[in-house]
Amino acid sequence: MCGIVGIVGSAPVTNRLVEGLKRLEYRGYDSAGIAVVNGIGVTRRRAEGRIVNLEQVIADDPTDGFIGIAHTRWATHGKPITKNAHPHTADQVAIVHNGIIENFKELRAELEATGRKFSSQTDSEVIVQMLARYVGQGMTEDKAFFSTIDRLEGAFAIAAIFETRPSEIFAARHNVPLVVGLGGTEGYVGSDAYALAPFTREIIFLEEGDRAIIRPNGVDIFDRNNDKTDRPVTLTNIDITRADKGDYEHFMQKEIQEQPESIARTLAHYGDPLSGELYTTVAEADFAKSDRIASIACGTAFLSAMVAKHWFERLAQLHMEVDIASEFRYRTPALPEKGPILFVSQSGETADTLACLQYCKRFGLPTYAVVNVEQSSIARAASATLPTLAGPEIGVASTKAFTAQLAALACTALSAARARGKLDQSQTEAHLADLMTAPKLVAQALKLEEQVKQIAISLKDAQHIIFLGRGINHPLALEGALKMKEITYIQAEGYAAGELKHGPIALIEQDTPVVVIAPWDILMEKTFSNVEEVISRGARVILFTDEKGAKHCEADVAETVIMPTAGPMASPLVSTIPLQMLAYHTAVARGTDVDKPRNLAKSVTVE
Ligand code: M6R
Repeated sequence: MCGIVGIVGSAPVTNRLVEGLKRLEYRGYDSAGIAVVNGIGVTRRRAEGRIVNLEQVIADDPTDGFIGIAHTRWATHGKPITKNAHPHTADQVAIVHNGIIENFKELRAELEATGRKFSSQTDSEVIVQMLARYVGQGMTEDKAFFSTIDRLEGAFAIAAIFETRPSEIFAARHNVPLVVGLGGTEGYVGSDAYALAPFTREIIFLEEGDRAIIRPNGVDIFDRNNDKTDRPVTLTNIDITRADKGDYEHFMQKEIQEQPESIARTLAHYGDPLSGELYTTVAEADFAKSDRIASIACGTAFLSAMVAKHWFERLAQLHMEVDIASEFRYRTPALPEKGPILFVSQSGETADTLACLQYCKRFGLPTYAVVNVEQSSIARAASATLPTLAGPEIGVASTKAFTAQLAALACTALSAARARGKLDQSQTEAHLADLMTAPKLVAQALKLEEQVKQIAISLKDAQHIIFLGRGINHPLALEGALKMKEITYIQAEGYAAGELKHGPIALIEQDTPVVVIAPWDILMEKTFSNVEEVISRGARVILFTDEKGAKHCEADVAETVIMPTAGPMASPLVSTIPLQMLAYHTAVARGTDVDKPRNLAKSVTVE
């Protein structure tokens, strides 16, 4: 993963490179660096950790130039320390790289055999060493760049600068997105259009295998065979203000609180809350053509698809395969004959999900992107988009994007049911009306914060936590556990409540915390039997239920959180809220870095 940005122009670039990096920090925050070409050649500044550390290094030892490249890293090969931070340099060449060079060991051995000395443990350094070697052998910079790119295997977006070509940035992409920006008297390169938004709206999305030479007054683009080619210019409309936390302590807290609005905004895209009319989605006709659909995603987005499977099966009687993208791409999956396939992703940049989308497109299947970022790679590659309108999500732990995905997928399941004749008009309206109560009920659920916070404080020293749910609440148990582990670092696992006695119950000992999600539904009694089973083995049960559920529960639970009563469509959205608050307040109590948890990045752009 990692983010790259480059500027070539007529004014100093250092501060603007740093600004671009801040917009890319969602891709990794292990280290950061810049390199510029100026009167003294290639100079660079690098720092371990966040971009603020790099700002300090630059403040202590300033450098600037009219051309530069910059990088924020999520470590793959080599520890997250300064010597492994990008840009990498060799003989007055500097490069930044996002991706993985899979044949780096062979290339490194070959280069070392010629006497080249490496100074990092990264896969990326072979790129700059090879460039320097080729130039040293007398190749032109263009030839050296193209020849180097031709030898790399794996996934890469690369930007390179040479002291000897101080008005050009060389760039290439292979299996990793990269964009070029045009600014009249300046040229830009970046991992995404968002990074370049403060500088230009004119963006060229490079295509697979493209190479580019970017100059202040334009760009030359070459395809994978090094033949000159043209790519269209897109005029983007990206908000250049960076989201701020307002009065909140963390972005995650703010994003949890924003959910009544983000859910309402998403629902209003798919249906009219006043008239109860469900709008026709672009995907509707495709659902009538097939009895099987699939959804592919990662992490929290995968779990939203798991929730949606219940809606598609129950309402539209569609068999829905839900797959983890990194698993799907290396199987020989039996694809639904006519699709459609839903790719769910907050960022729209997740490498595995994007690769699966490219794979499915080769079979001519209709592909739909359920994404939160309009100009993202997944949105642009899919046949059409089913948007989630959560607004920018900054906290690494996904919260409002998850509930917006649920809202969009629930509406899509309803429109599939209608298209397939499984729901008539009044049934559709009744389900939509249920769903439309979600924003109000979520607002009520948010009022449980103080009670949930006290429970969270009591969990602060837990070694492990178990989350249980049945039916549609099973993926919520998985999501509750994922949220808990990613921001608190407590071992947390979610299970289908009925699976417990097939193994996981062995984990239960005196006072083991078990969080149970069981609002009243037809499976609730079954879940309550599982609650009795864990209590009799010493578990400390924290029950998230509703009023009716609380009345029915006779078990000796330690804590009961009574959520607002919701219909079956709105229920998963409402039940998500206390789970998010529980993880958030446990993390705060433990003093972890809530918005930027260790080892993670907001967007996973390597496989
Ligand atoms: O951007 P995406 O939705 O494709 O990201 C998928 C996962 O990486 C993401 O949901 C991740 O699991 C979150 N950090 C979970 O909170």
